[in-house]
Amino acid sequence: MAANREADQSKRRLEVGVERVLIDEVALRARLVEMGTAISAEYVGKDLLLVAVLKGSVLFLADLMRQISIPHEIDFMATSSYGAGATSSGVVRILKDLNKPIEGRHVLIVEDIIDSGNTLAYLMGLLAARNPTSLQIVTLLDKPDRREVDIHVAWTGFSIPNEFVIGYGLDYNERYRNLPYIGVLKPEIYAQSDAGSPVG
Ligand code: PRP
Repeated sequence: MAANREADQSKRRLEVGVERVLIDEVALRARLVEMGTAISAEYVGKDLLLVAVLKGSVLFLADLMRQISIPHEIDFMATSSYGAGATSSGVVRILKDLNKPIEGRHVLIVEDIIDSGNTLAYLMGLLAARNPTSLQIVTLLDKPDRREVDIHVAWTGFSIPNEFVIGYGLDYNERYRNLPYIGVLKPEIYAQSDAGSPVG
């Protein structure tokens, strides 16, 4: 009883700052089943490598790969495109590269969100130069209104409006990643640290 009460209180504390739920757990799960099925069909019989872009994509990767029924491997890259605030700077830094070469492999980049497109445009160029047999993108979320560079996205979970989203891997100043849903952050939370448009 006491443990349950503690868990409830802890959940309430974590959700301070969340304005509303944008995509709930049920909708996330249903869409991931569809995406996993489509990806499994596309890559059947092929040497598939999922490349997740840290850190925001970790929950998406973990759930998506459980919906992919064909054998595959995973690897990780880490990039940094923003400062501590809420807007994209357009500058992409590689913080962690892949562990192994990708030449001759079918590479699927797994992202949590596409905003300006700068991160993926840069990553696509970088990885294409390593001669994979194919190179495609799956993203959970897309903010098409914010796009600065054109990129082709093979699978998109949800197109969303330009609001600051957090949860299910996405953060604000490293917080909120553990929420099981995609939520919208209250504007007053980020308004003081960044006057620009919300990124999420
Ligand atoms: C986010 C997101 C993408 C990128 C998208 O990562 O995961 O990698 O920004 O923005 P863009 O389309 O404008 O380039 P972030 O740098 O916030 O790191 P994180 O995943 O570790 O939170």
